Amino acid sequence: MPANKSDATPEGDPTQWDRDHSWHPFSQMQEYLQFPPVHIASGRGCWLTDTQGKRYLDATASIWTNVHGHNDPDLNAAITDQLGKVAHTTMLGISHPAGAELARKLASIAPGDLTRSFFSDTGANAVEIALKMSLQYWQLRGHKSKDRVIGLRDAYHGDTMAAMAVGDSKTFHHRFRSWFFNTIKLPRPECEERGGRIIHADDRWSIKILRKLLERQAEKVTAVIMEPSVMGAAGMRLHPPGFLKKVADLCREFSVHLILDEIFVGFGRTGPMLVCAEDGVTPDFLCLAKGLSGGYLPLAATVVREPIYEAFLGPFEDFRAFFHGHTFTGNPLAAAVSLTSIRKLEPMIASGEIRRKVEVFGRMVTEHFENHPHVAAIRQRGLCAAIDLVADRESGASFPVPERFGIQVALRARDLGLLLRPIHDTLLLVPPLSVTGEEIRFLVEKTLSALDASLAVRHVAAPAH
Ligand SMILES: Cc1ncc(COP(=O)(O)O)c(C=O)c1O
Repeated sequence: MPANKSDATPEGDPTQWDRDHSWHPFSQMQEYLQFPPVHIASGRGCWLTDTQGKRYLDATASIWTNVHGHNDPDLNAAITDQLGKVAHTTMLGISHPAGAELARKLASIAPGDLTRSFFSDTGANAVEIALKMSLQYWQLRGHKSKDRVIGLRDAYHGDTMAAMAVGDSKTFHHRFRSWFFNTIKLPRPECEERGGRIIHADDRWSIKILRKLLERQAEKVTAVIMEPSVMGAAGMRLHPPGFLKKVADLCREFSVHLILDEIFVGFGRTGPMLVCAEDGVTPDFLCLAKGLSGGYLPLAATVVREPIYEAFLGPFEDFRAFFHGHTFTGNPLAAAVSLTSIRKLEPMIASGEIRRKVEVFGRMVTEHFENHPHVAAIRQRGLCAAIDLVADRESGASFPVPERFGIQVALRARDLGLLLRPIHDTLLLVPPLSVTGEEIRFLVEKTLSALDASLAVRHVAAPAH
């Protein structure tokens, strides 16, 4: 049936309008239309309330963005204050105080000579910008043969063309690969932790291959790109401590840029404000988004080292300028709320508040899922965790794909007041950083109940012989 194209009636059912006219990201719409709809009407703290009045704990931090909770009075005030001045004005050729102040703030929290922020609006764009800047930098310096990028296996850096090319997501991106530019994929390191303690870590293979690649073709390589510490969309794959430093050292040794994607891990998600600063690594480009604005408004930044910026300077007629921009680049409302969010986060990190929450979170996730007969592995670092579900723990057999087991658990979790978004059969727990101990308990208990209820239904549907 074609969708109803009339918008004449001001009253009606938004759920139906959504069914008739929306196309949702990362969603099989045929499936989406069969699931009970959830339309969020409001939020406060870690809780979201739908249009039917049902409350949910926001266990995805609204797709890994939310820092201080929803409807935070300080963040709200930052926006309304800026709104009373101007909502949007361009950064193309002119500027505004909120953008300038945020750029200065980012320079102060970023390590070393990362001094210049180029703003955009999404994580994928922050990555595209870093890639384009890297390529142009080498061209400006006369290294025209540098045209390829090394990324990690299973990496995710966003869904625009270049971000997909440097990523490695079979389900999401492989059908577009004939349009991708030249990239090389590096095996990711191994790391297993339990209760915050490392039980297995090995990056020797990754580092050996990276060294070999650079020895053979550094003059052709523009940059290495990676997420430090945790590869989020790869299913919270952990890196061993020290891996980032080894990669950074190799990049320096072979004159290849290092692009760090801290879009997920930045702003306290794994504990520190920035992973690179914590690890004593200054990348050439640092990509930030998601938690940058506290999860309030779309804002991203590509923070760049001063010498790279300087290479782009010259008389206009030399055409060294970076010809790239987005209409809403550095939006003042987003810049204002970002500044307030960072200022509010700083004492939470410095006082150990985030560290203490991480300990509680790690302990509770481990306690609830470690010995579960359908949990193959748990990965947790900071306030994020992944729980891999399997049909059979002994053999490691997965659930059949058409069962959509992960989604079934998420649907049951909704009934129990929890909004989860799994990747395949991996449950991801990513609460806002403002989450309390009680809310962490609610999160793990309801996740466990949803898992057990889904298994019970499955056993009724297919009783064991
Ligand atoms: C590490 C990482 N990089 C890039 C992106 C893309 O960000 P965006 O969705 O804002 O384009 C994501 C999104 O999940 C991410 O986790």
